[in-house]
Amino acid sequence: MDRLNDSPNLMIVSDLDCTMVDHDDPGNLALLRFNALWEAYYRRNSLLVFSTGRSPTSYRRLRKKRPLLTPDITIMSVGTEIAYGESMVPDDDWKQYLDNNWDRKAITEETAKFPELIPQPETEHRPHKVSFYVEKGKASEVILALSKCLEKRRLDVKIIYSSGTALDLLPQGAGKGQALAYILEKFKADGRGPINTLVCGDSGNDAELFSVPEVYGVMVSNSQEELLQWYANNAKGNPKIIHATERCSAGIIQAIGNFSVGPNLSPRDIVGETVGNFFSREHEVVKFYIFYERWRRGEIENSEQNVQTLKSTFHHAGSFVHPSGVEKNRLQILDAFEKFYGDKQGISFQVWVDRVNFAEISLGSWQVKFDKWELSGKGLQGCSTKVLMNSKVDSPDEFIWMHLHQTWLDGSGQNDDDKIWFI
Ligand code: GLC
Ligand code: MG
Repeated sequence: MDRLNDSPNLMIVSDLDCTMVDHDDPGNLALLRFNALWEAYYRRNSLLVFSTGRSPTSYRRLRKKRPLLTPDITIMSVGTEIAYGESMVPDDDWKQYLDNNWDRKAITEETAKFPELIPQPETEHRPHKVSFYVEKGKASEVILALSKCLEKRRLDVKIIYSSGTALDLLPQGAGKGQALAYILEKFKADGRGPINTLVCGDSGNDAELFSVPEVYGVMVSNSQEELLQWYANNAKGNPKIIHATERCSAGIIQAIGNFSVGPNLSPRDIVGETVGNFFSREHEVVKFYIFYERWRRGEIENSEQNVQTLKSTFHHAGSFVHPSGVEKNRLQILDAFEKFYGDKQGISFQVWVDRVNFAEISLGSWQVKFDKWELSGKGLQGCSTKVLMNSKVDSPDEFIWMHLHQTWLDGSGQNDDDKIWFI
């Protein structure tokens, strides 16, 4: 939460399954477009918040499979667990607040009376969340009867139905909307409320997000019936909420453009010499790794012009330290590029950068830090990367890479493939 000193320009609060992540898109095309956009233009002065129904365990499982950026704040278990930063420091005040008037044992005694309620896996039951599956056809009836039972015992419980299958019971003060309102309050108390907030969702447990005052909202095109129904009953005509025509993260990008809350041309969508709509230093790193991915996938030409671009990226006396400790010079790096042109052609191979950060250490000289990730059939590989870059003398908006140093990120560096991996 303290990463930014000023008010964030934009706070994106997004659901994950079927909103940020499209489970029908194994190539993660839209998500990678969003990631590139975020790292190039938003990471520096904006906040990314994931708000998921998943428990910490199942959230971590998703992170291993999909190219998800590191959010500034993670809200899990349908707004019952809040954690800050990369190390995910839990918000204990929130936990304590949710303890008020919450009697988990009494609730499970009541739910046990309904054979229609099929318990979810153990990992999805959390201190302030009890979860089931229930058939769509039986849902309204069961919810009604269950509410009556709970009321009779004076249990103040919030019941949420999502994706036509999942039923969650939470403390009345919990939920994705309440958790967001709580976070926004904290920011405002600090005088650092975000300039704009955009909430993004697709299913029932996201509905609350759209009622938080002053936020923009996007229901992605593939939104579930129960969310669209909620909108029709409660928010129709609100000009700050749209139903996108694009799926998942493509819908989020669409909403950024629709509400004009910042740049909306992803670096992955920039063709040829077209320049993005804003200058950003971070774009240098994002652009390089898009090039790297497309080069290895053989999606761009091995042309004189592209080789020239590469050559002009690295300083002639540059040095590049691979995570294994092996050092290479510029010629060896260029050789490696030559050799690996198209080696991932037709193979699933996705590359993205996370947490890109530029710090000027002396005039025109930058220490650049980021995590670089590759996802292939062999799984996820990450490198924490530091690069010393200089602004080019004749064009200060461009950079030359002087020195690069990488170390493996958790669990990476186990495959044979890593030995040949080069930048
Ligand atoms: C996620 C959670 C599940 C919850 C559902 C809807 O899928 O894993 O426990 O019921 O979201 O909120
Ligand atoms: Mg969802």
